[in-house]
Amino acid sequence: MSQASKPTDEVLCQCSGTRRGNIQNLFEQGLDIQAISRWTGALSGCGGCEWDIADFLKELAEQQSKNSKR
Ligand code: FES
Repeated sequence: MSQASKPTDEVLCQCSGTRRGNIQNLFEQGLDIQAISRWTGALSGCGGCEWDIADFLKELAEQQSKNSKR
């Protein structure tokens, strides 16, 4: 299943309680992964969420570039 079709209230970072929807919102405001991390506290604990978040952001970026070509 693609990340983007998963529930927005799913917690991606257990340490900070950051949800998928939060990350998507910040991404849509133009924040990159470092800025999102600073803003939410995601990735600043155990780091175990790094792959999930990086993956999700990559997917969002791909979607965005597809949409902008349409
Ligand atoms: S789960 Fe995100 S830093 Fe630990």
